[in-house]
Amino acid sequence: MNYIEIIKNIDKGQENPKALVKTYGCQMNVRDSEKLLGMLRDMGYGVADDESDADLVIFNTCCVRENAENKLYGHLGNFKEKKRTNPHLKLVLCGCMMQQDSVLVRIKSTFPYVDVIFGTHNLYRFPELLHSNFETGQTIIDIWQEAREIVEDLPSKREYPFKGGVNIMYGCNNFCTYCIVPYVRGRERSRKPAEILAEVTEMAHDGVSEVTLLGQNVNSYEFGFAQLLHKVAEIDGIKRIRFTSSHPKDMSDEVIGAIRDLPKVCKHLHLPFQAGSSRVLEMMNRGHTKEWYMALIEKIRCEIPEIAITTDIMVGFPGESDEDFECTLDVVRHARFSGAFTFIYSRRIGTEADKMENQVPEEASGARFKRLVEEVNRIQLEDNLKKLGQVVTVLADTVGKNGVLSGRADDNALVHFEGAQGLIGQYVKVKILSAKTFYLQGEMV
Ligand code: 5AD
Ligand code: SF4
Repeated sequence: MNYIEIIKNIDKGQENPKALVKTYGCQMNVRDSEKLLGMLRDMGYGVADDESDADLVIFNTCCVRENAENKLYGHLGNFKEKKRTNPHLKLVLCGCMMQQDSVLVRIKSTFPYVDVIFGTHNLYRFPELLHSNFETGQTIIDIWQEAREIVEDLPSKREYPFKGGVNIMYGCNNFCTYCIVPYVRGRERSRKPAEILAEVTEMAHDGVSEVTLLGQNVNSYEFGFAQLLHKVAEIDGIKRIRFTSSHPKDMSDEVIGAIRDLPKVCKHLHLPFQAGSSRVLEMMNRGHTKEWYMALIEKIRCEIPEIAITTDIMVGFPGESDEDFECTLDVVRHARFSGAFTFIYSRRIGTEADKMENQVPEEASGARFKRLVEEVNRIQLEDNLKKLGQVVTVLADTVGKNGVLSGRADDNALVHFEGAQGLIGQYVKVKILSAKTFYLQGEMV
């Protein structure tokens, strides 16, 4: 695609236009936003600090849970006045939420001042769509129901110069009954190993040392995920390899072996279990039982004792009883997660679970959620306190307002410490001096 042609053709109406990309949802969306920022840069846009400073705002949306939808509508409402006072302002919507018909209908009727709408499958067409909007002044909507091809070599602008994500596959075939992802992101498509390795090699040349391999379910990477880990580990300049997300049912011994044997692969595994009751897991179509998950955790901890395991947990799935929920707490107590994303089940139109009877009342889900979070946090703090006195290696990534540096240890623990700003992007040894539920504090050694 010839971006220069597009830039030349765009009458932006002002000098040095700036764009803001607001990202919601998973790491796949974070990565898509980096690609959007790359395209915007090539079209001549700078980066805006906030909405008031922006000539173009993109909302890269997520539809996995319902509250995100309501939040977006709130934001869009605010744009009516902004667009009136600044007619040059462009408003762009993309991401998986746009691939839901009900959302599109609502946006078309309620927010007619949106300029461009597209989905996840045609992200790469954004410059063309924006161009059409500039030419016609009309809302341009282009939603593809399915992916046609994997488009390689999109420009991108990494959030951090020293670490970044790489898509290895798109879509999901699992159809967990609560989940909308397979409907909006389509079937699994894996990128060719050669394309992935070339991208990581180029990133390493650019100064990236930590790479995160991204997919809804990296364990079902078509060309062998364990082999891919081995190949990525051979790339000079790459010091750390992370990946997300893994489905327990596809967690092979080869992958466990690769995490164990490859020093560059971080000892951290995100392994969503969703619910503890085997009955609920069956209704969720997760493809495994509680016992099977616990045995898997045991096997992984036996092979890789230092590994940190994080997870996703949901309460209030249709039909979940108090007894079922106790099974979830039981898994939490035995698996001892280093962190968990916790969710209240949210009905998604078009999914199997949405059609199920016995939807759990909000009060019951809310009470379970509160107990779950307390339990997860209690264990997290207990395990963090065990790290006092340990020396960990942190890739410094951010300077806080107070001048304190932050970064992630190999096991993904968030660590704060005092140090010079020049350490950003460097691996620093830090001795842990205090521990909180969500982070550790320490000093450089
Ligand atoms: N309601 C609540 N949480 C959900 N998730 C996916 N779909 C739903 C839903 N309908 C959660 C799962 C998944 C994570 C990315 O989001 O826990 O692992
Ligand atoms: Fe959704 Fe299940 Fe696929 Fe994860 S594995 S994206 S929860 S369908």
